[in-house]
Amino acid sequence: MEPVVAVVVAAGAGVRLGGTEPKALRLLNGRPLISYCLEGLAAGGVDRVVVVIAAGTEADFEAALADSPIPAAYVHGGQDRAASVEAGLAAMAGDPAFDGCRYVLVHDAARALVPGPVVARVIAALRDGASGCVPVMPVVDTVRQLTDDGSVVIDRSQLRLVQTPQGFERSVLVAALAQARQGGLQITDDASAVAAAGVPIALVEGSRDALKVTEPLDLVLAEAIERSRR
Ligand code: CTP
Ligand code: MG
Repeated sequence: MEPVVAVVVAAGAGVRLGGTEPKALRLLNGRPLISYCLEGLAAGGVDRVVVVIAAGTEADFEAALADSPIPAAYVHGGQDRAASVEAGLAAMAGDPAFDGCRYVLVHDAARALVPGPVVARVIAALRDGASGCVPVMPVVDTVRQLTDDGSVVIDRSQLRLVQTPQGFERSVLVAALAQARQGGLQITDDASAVAAAGVPIALVEGSRDALKVTEPLDLVLAEAIERSRR
C-alpha cells in the first residue's frame, strides 16, 4: 500500500487561547498538544508527518515529539494557515523521502485528540478512489441566517461542520492551493480550494473528540476527554 503522509500545521500563535508559547506546545494534562496529534494520526494509519512550525521553535517541538510513534520532519510556516500548508507541501516536494507518497492528509495541530478511527476513515476514502475527503459532524444547534429584514432558520439537516484531517490526492491538493492563491481566493480550509477547482469532496464521519482547541474552554473540554480515555 502507498504510504500516507500528514502535514500538521502548528505554526499559529494561539492568540485566542492565550499564553506565551505556540498553541501546539501547550500542555494538555501535562503533555504538549502536538504529541497527542501524532498518536492519533499514527493510530489511524499515517506513516510520517511534516510538522509546520514557527521559526525558532524546532528544539521545543523536537523535545515535545521525542517519543513520537512516527517520524517527523520540520518546516517553517507562513503568514496564514494556507501559507503554512503550502510550506509543508513544498518541503515534501523537495525531499525524495516523500516521492512515493500519493496521498496527503492536512491536519490542524489544534485538533489534538483526533481519534485514530477518524483518520482511518479519511485514508480509506482516498484508497477507495476519492481525490478529496473531509470528516464532518452534524450541527446540533439551531442556526439562523441574518437577512436584510431579520433572520431565517436554516435547515440544519443540510449542514455539516468540517474537521481535520482532510485527505487528498497530493497532486490535486498542490494544484488546487496554487490555483486558489493565484486567484486571490480566501480559503479557510483545504477542501474548499480543492472543491473550487471542481473536484468532488467525499464526507466521512468525524468526532466530537476532534474539537479544535481555540479558546480556554476548549482546553478544559479536551482535558476532560483525555482523562476519560484512560
Ligand atoms: N496555523 C499555521 N500557520 C499560521 C496560522 C495557523 O500553521 N500562520 C495553524 C495553527 O497552528 C493551528 C491551525 O493552523 O494548528 C488552525 O488555526 P487556529 O486554530 O486559528 O490556530 P492559531 O492561529 O494558532 O490560533 P489563533 O488564531 O487564536 O492565533
Ligand atoms: Mg488562527
